[in-house]
Amino acid sequence: MKKIGILGTGMVGNTIGSKLIALGYEVKMGSRTTNNPKAAEWVQKNGKNASQGSFAEAASFGELVFNCTKGEHSLEVMKL
Ligand SMILES: NC(=O)c1ccc[n+]([C@@H]2O[C@H](COP(=O)([O-])OP(=O)(O)OC[C@H]3O[C@@H](n4cnc5c(N)ncnc54)[C@H](OP(=O)(O)O)[C@@H]3O)[C@@H](O)[C@H]2O)c1
Repeated sequence: MKKIGILGTGMVGNTIGSKLIALGYEVKMGSRTTNNPKAAEWVQKNGKNASQGSFAEAASFGELVFNCTKGEHSLEVMKL
């Protein structure tokens, strides 16, 4: 397994995503929008194995997916 999707651009997604990049995984961070500025900043800091996209794109990308979205909206995000 090499590819991981992170759903969420908050502190939790950022922290887990950065650690996974440091461990050598390819990580796509998902958001409601494909150009989320927090995800863009995370990609900028984490180099070539980091990317961003929509929630659906991050879920498709990952062989394993972390749900790091705001709890009250998580079910809504899972449907996307
Ligand atoms: N931060 C902590 O210290 C901490 C500690 C323990 C547990 N947690 C839990 O871990 C989870 C993530 O926490 P977090 O602080 O990293 O991030 P967060 O601010 O709780 O959630 C950020 C994510 O939720 C998405 N989101 C917000 N409103 C939404 C809506 N109306 N519809 C769909 N998605 C929506 C955001 O989407 P966009 O990217 O599109 O903005 C973003 O990706 C939460 O459930 C939190 O309770 C957090």
